[in-house]
Amino acid sequence: MTCVRILLWFAVAFIAAIAGGLIYIKTQTNGFSARAKPTAFETMAARTARGLALSASVRERQNPVPDSGQTVGEGREHWADHCALCHANDGSGNTEMGRQMYPPAPDMRGQDTQRLTDGELFYIIENGIRLTGMPAWGSGSERDRQDTWKLVRFIRHLPSLTALELEQMKDFNPRSPQEIREEMEEQEFLNGGPVHPHEQRHEQRHEQRH
Ligand code: HEC
Repeated sequence: MTCVRILLWFAVAFIAAIAGGLIYIKTQTNGFSARAKPTAFETMAARTARGLALSASVRERQNPVPDSGQTVGEGREHWADHCALCHANDGSGNTEMGRQMYPPAPDMRGQDTQRLTDGELFYIIENGIRLTGMPAWGSGSERDRQDTWKLVRFIRHLPSLTALELEQMKDFNPRSPQEIREEMEEQEFLNGGPVHPHEQRHEQRHEQRH
């Protein structure tokens, strides 16, 4: 009996040592840094698993909002405000946040994204993608669902986005309070209005206290 127990302990200690060793080696080589890029195999496996996880009824859903300039325009503003932080206005994923994630935000103008069905895009926006930086945006309300379908229309439009549209989107990108203040001052200056340096200083002092 005691002999069996000792053997069992040895077995447990042996397994723990191997597991510990493997974890050590792994962290010494590439660790858990998000700087690495997923291999082509990893990306393919994740995409296939994602595709298989969705039922045909979800994949085949039709977009209920019309394909019009109006809906694409609304989707574009929404994108600039909520999605461009990671995905960039042009959908390239070329932003500080998007590039540094594991997996990174993909170039959504390319085939990999455009090949997804409207239903898949809708599902991803509503529910996010587990174990990635892609958040779930759906709240379940009908209005939100409509907004998501408009985003799907906009994603389809990404490959043919014009320079003018890109310029207009900048107005909808989120700005920090500092940027808003600077813009207001600039506007005031252009309108010939007064800029009060002492007020500015007071505001800065106020901010420093927080
Ligand atoms: C905080 C960063 C972040 C924000 C904000 C974000 N996303 Fe994403 N998104 C990601 C990342 C990272 C991926 C890649 C996930 C993967 O490879 O599995 C992704 C993937 C996607 C995909 C799947 C593309 C594909 O080819 O697999 C869609 C669609 C998408 N995002 C839409 C949106 C929309 C629409 C918004 C705004 C409402 C948004 N995302 C906001 C980070 C973000």
